[in-house]
Amino acid sequence: MAKKMKLKKEAKKFGGIAILILCILIISCIFGIKTYREYKYKQTYEYKLIEHGYSLENAKKLVSYFKNSSKIDSILSISRNEKILDLIKEKYYIHNHLERYLAYLDTHKDTSYKDVVAIVNVNRDYDFYEHDIDSKTSDNELLIVNKYYTLNADFNPENLVTINNQYAYENNQITEEANDAYVSMWHAAKEAGIQLIVNSSYRNYQDQEDVYNSIKQSKGEREADKVAARPGHSEHQSGLAIDVFEIHNQLTGTFQDSPAYAWLKENAYLYGYIERYPEDKEYLTGYSFESWHWRYVGLEAAKVIHEEGITYDEYYAYYIENQAE
Ligand code: DAL
Ligand code: ZN
Repeated sequence: MAKKMKLKKEAKKFGGIAILILCILIISCIFGIKTYREYKYKQTYEYKLIEHGYSLENAKKLVSYFKNSSKIDSILSISRNEKILDLIKEKYYIHNHLERYLAYLDTHKDTSYKDVVAIVNVNRDYDFYEHDIDSKTSDNELLIVNKYYTLNADFNPENLVTINNQYAYENNQITEEANDAYVSMWHAAKEAGIQLIVNSSYRNYQDQEDVYNSIKQSKGEREADKVAARPGHSEHQSGLAIDVFEIHNQLTGTFQDSPAYAWLKENAYLYGYIERYPEDKEYLTGYSFESWHWRYVGLEAAKVIHEEGITYDEYYAYYIENQAE
């Protein structure tokens, strides 16, 4: 009996110890998990952004916008700046340009975020002709040439054809694809009672130099730069641009009021052509409004540019260069 009692007592004691050990284990586990969770949280971008000075709400917004990607490292590498939260709301925001957007905003406080993004995307935060980049000729009909992107003096498009006299004045050349598209567009315009005519198209480097210099001599460099590209910077050298008029209306000053221009504005994209130097976009393109200058970019790009109302410079930055990165 006494032995039985002793055994019972020992079992109770052992049970007590087991429960104690279990409790210690559970507490250690809970503590361990908590410590591990804290450790893991400290590795997150949300935590790092908060440590960098962002509010929890803004940190969450940045993490969700950048899908937790390493792009946040570049935000952490610069001083906290709440303007980033507004910039990323812009449709054409390009992350690689972030520091340039912020620098531009610092010196142009009255410029809207939309314009800051557009201006920097098209390199307009650099002075014209002071930031030359080689045009990527392998882009074919999507090639860009402007006051930043340049073509070599010896660049000639490979597949130039002469535009038939029915559609253009003598000796006008453009690339074969641009010509096919123009001919289709010409017939559609004709059906609408409009007779288009091309009076200038492909110009080689030397031709462009002559055009530019003659305007510069008569009007000065400032005025010349508004209406003509410097050699190596003209779309006309790409074989993808046409200066098009209505057969009875070839005055540059009045073409913008003609039914032909209205028709082109509404329909040219259906043939892969876009208006290259639109009204009110001089601050992006660097050129005065040219209602007659139309650029072949192909159907897909033309549709996006037409529907979104952007310049080719903006399109190229966002949809071509940015997507390639
Ligand atoms: N007139 C256009 C801008 C050119 O010279 O290429
Ligand atoms: Zn032109």
